[in-house]
Amino acid sequence: MSEKGIIAIVGCPATGKSVVARALAEMIHTEHIDYSEYLLKINAARVHNDEIVIEDKKAKNVLGKLEEGIVSGVYALDYLDSKKIKNVYLLRCNPKILFYRYLVRNYDLEKIKNNLTSEYLDVCLKMALEKVGPQKVNQVDASNDEPSYIALRIYSSIKNGFKIFDKVDWLSQISRPFDLILMK
Ligand SMILES: Nc1ncnc2c1ncn2[C@@H]1O[C@H](COP(=O)(O)OP(=O)(O)O)[C@@H](O)[C@H]1O
Ligand SMILES: [Mg+2]
Repeated sequence: MSEKGIIAIVGCPATGKSVVARALAEMIHTEHIDYSEYLLKINAARVHNDEIVIEDKKAKNVLGKLEEGIVSGVYALDYLDSKKIKNVYLLRCNPKILFYRYLVRNYDLEKIKNNLTSEYLDVCLKMALEKVGPQKVNQVDASNDEPSYIALRIYSSIKNGFKIFDKVDWLSQISRPFDLILMK
């Protein structure tokens, strides 16, 4: 798989971007950049009140020059050159599962609400479509499979040139007032 271009793995926090991207990088023998970790390492970002503050100019300068590899992160697309992006794989995860992962991460209620609302309302999908257009955007429901199987599906899509667009409709699955309370 030597064709040049960046594979971007995006999605809301805790949808599995890092674990899936790592597994995929092993399968296709390519470099994986978790963009926030990477920007911290090269001093293009810092941690402030538990949040990562990115220096936009520096980040665009470095990530914008990337030609290939796997790049993962919530806002990874903001910093990449869209012409160099071969494919985007957007990971989706049932908000009911995300809620538990956010508790494990000790997110406060405001942050939980913001992120669950984004997942319910397809915010990352809209961002991806705006950045690279519909042809390059794949949507993968990562709610029920092992990370290695999700990586395998992505690997197969890249290798065989087919698109993945799993249907997700979390809003239709809201069953209890509790789910609504967790939205903004
Ligand atoms: N498909 C999955 N099945 C079970 N657990 C998962 C899956 N994907 C991610 N996780 C777990 O959820 C947490 C968040 O995953 P991570 O890859 O760090 O998410 P992200 O990089 O999108 O923020 C981790 O503890 C990870 O092990
Ligand atoms: Mg991550």
